[in-house]
Amino acid sequence: MPTEMEHITEHLPGWLEESRHAASEGKVADYIPELAHAPADALGCTLIDTNGNTVTAGDCSLSFTMQSISKVFTLLLALMDRGEERVFNHVGMEPSGDDYNSMLKLELVEPGKPFNPLINAGAIAITALIKGDSTDEQFTRIRDFFRTIAGNPDIDYNHGVYTSEQQTAHRNRSLAYFLKDNDVLSDDTEVEDVLDVYFRQCALEVNCEQLARMGMVLANGGFDLVTGQELIPYRYVQIAKTFMVTCGMYNASGEFAIQAGIPAKSGVSGGILALVPGRYGIGVIGPSLNRKGNSTAGLHLLQKLSAQYNWSIF
Ligand code: DON
Repeated sequence: MPTEMEHITEHLPGWLEESRHAASEGKVADYIPELAHAPADALGCTLIDTNGNTVTAGDCSLSFTMQSISKVFTLLLALMDRGEERVFNHVGMEPSGDDYNSMLKLELVEPGKPFNPLINAGAIAITALIKGDSTDEQFTRIRDFFRTIAGNPDIDYNHGVYTSEQQTAHRNRSLAYFLKDNDVLSDDTEVEDVLDVYFRQCALEVNCEQLARMGMVLANGGFDLVTGQELIPYRYVQIAKTFMVTCGMYNASGEFAIQAGIPAKSGVSGGILALVPGRYGIGVIGPSLNRKGNSTAGLHLLQKLSAQYNWSIF
């Protein structure tokens, strides 16, 4: 009887090819102009188990920017920098039910306080909490933390994608000014400074294997696979995993919880980081997105894998 990992190794390439067709149901994001160049029907997936065994299939050599996936790890760094109480003074803990860049509820409920740290408004508020005497220092601390979690000292941001977002991010600018007006961003925080760090963070570039490694650290309770060192306190890993389940796929998080039932976080470049607690870290790229901003082929593949191996945590 083959182990599950052996079974995955044998079948992943075939299932991935079966999922590829779902790319035609979506569209590559173009509101950040530079993202529009991504190959629409690419699909890649890497899966790493707790012994470090790695399975890879499809277009895994593709590099892509993390975009919203970065929000999970910036949240973790903010929790490590400032603690739970301070972080949750600035953002809530609830799904918004709206699009990731919506401003609707920002004014309606608790004025200025974003519903959660994974929508854009919440993530901008979180980035402002990262310690550092300058924006460069804040960004360098974020980048170095990502390098540590991914076990890769070369991770850096894509200048083209950063510049492209920086020049077109009118909606994020308006969200950030609204946060400042409501003191979620403090008086001494310059909107353009925090956005600059946020855009660089979103433009951090990875491939499926690096993403799977980052997922593996969360699946492994915050401990590095190789060194056994605690990289993130378990309590904060718990918080991150919970947000991934409740808000990670935006206002499709409920549907994904039913269809796949594993913590996951998507990004508008088509990446998805997913994990099976105690077992696997998974990195997926499929640039074609559905209306809610999630990779169509990536969703198809993760739902197939979860159903096949009964991964749902529920
Ligand atoms: O702020 C933005 O709009 C992008 N840098 C990130 C958004 C994103 O990835 C949402 N994902 N589905």
